[in-house]
Amino acid sequence: MKHILVTGGAGYIGSTLTGVLLDAGYKVTVLDNLLFRQQTLLEYCGNANFDFVYGDCRAEDALKPLLKTVDAVIPLAAIVGFPACLRDPISAQTINFDAIALLERLRSRQQQVIYPTTNSGYGATSGDVFCTEETPLEPISLYGRTKVDAEKLLLDAGNAITLRLATAFGISPRMRIDLLVNDFTWQAVTNGSIIIFEKDFKRNFCHVRDISDCFVHCLKHFDTMKNEPYNVGLNEANLSKAELAMKVKEQVPRFYIHYAEVGSDPDKRNYIVSNEKINKTGFHAKVTLEQGIRELIVGYRILSRRAHTNL
Ligand SMILES: NC(=O)c1ccc[n+]([C@@H]2O[C@H](COP(=O)([O-])OP(=O)(O)OC[C@H]3O[C@@H](n4cnc5c(N)ncnc54)[C@H](O)[C@@H]3O)[C@@H](O)[C@H]2O)c1
Repeated sequence: MKHILVTGGAGYIGSTLTGVLLDAGYKVTVLDNLLFRQQTLLEYCGNANFDFVYGDCRAEDALKPLLKTVDAVIPLAAIVGFPACLRDPISAQTINFDAIALLERLRSRQQQVIYPTTNSGYGATSGDVFCTEETPLEPISLYGRTKVDAEKLLLDAGNAITLRLATAFGISPRMRIDLLVNDFTWQAVTNGSIIIFEKDFKRNFCHVRDISDCFVHCLKHFDTMKNEPYNVGLNEANLSKAELAMKVKEQVPRFYIHYAEVGSDPDKRNYIVSNEKINKTGFHAKVTLEQGIRELIVGYRILSRRAHTNL
């Protein structure tokens, strides 16, 4: 049985991925500092193949003993997204990049790494031409730069696969309502209205379970896929913010959408992405935006219920 170390495994992607890995027959150890005080992994504690270590992925004392027994590492721990990195740039640099350099120094050459990076570095394009893995990644934000630098470090070192993930969507035990599809759906069901800037900017999306399945796909086909980056997204989900809002409106008809230039994206994300390379390895994302939006609508009935209101 293969043993996988997942750093940041209590997060949005990690708390779904952990269950998917266990179901696929892997032994899983999560290292996480529970930054959000999340209790998202409790349901796995009864599984003999699951273990949890509370700790910081930047600490050699925490990481080194865990690397003694694992076959592969999925380093998810990060300060995620440009606003969070702007708020805490030192953590962003040390967690997103320095901890990956530490992992690189400590792992054996046989230990495989599958690393999620962001495709937001493709951002400053016209939005008309499909970005492939050959398109240069030129991130502007600190978040994008730390992730792209870490990706380069791992690919240069070898025995690694990097996944340039589209923006994730869907319900996960640690919920993130700041992600675009999750945010638009949240606004629709809680406020009934939204103001959208850069409405024609195109983005791409992938369900959190598809992302988790893709990590399993990489573990299974590691030798034929290794030492390469892969875009990972849903082929039908390259669409503008305005088009996305209309998809939400199809399921929440009272949703009032207003467009105004009240902000701008630091990574200038206006891009469409080709998933042909990962598709050719046999992986296809399956969960549609319609299915994801429906799941979010149902999930938000649970999440929002009377948490911070008397109504
Ligand atoms: N969600 C997306 O759309 C998306 C897209 C592209 C790439 N990614 C990448 O996927 C990974 C996971 O993202 P997510 O959406 O699950 O974010 P998240 O914020 O939900 O998860 C991050 C996890 O890392 C943990 N963590 C933070 N600092 C740590 C530290 N010093 N030591 C140990 N654990 C620490 C947090 O407690 C949390 O569990 C990140 O590397 C992110 O850059 C995510």
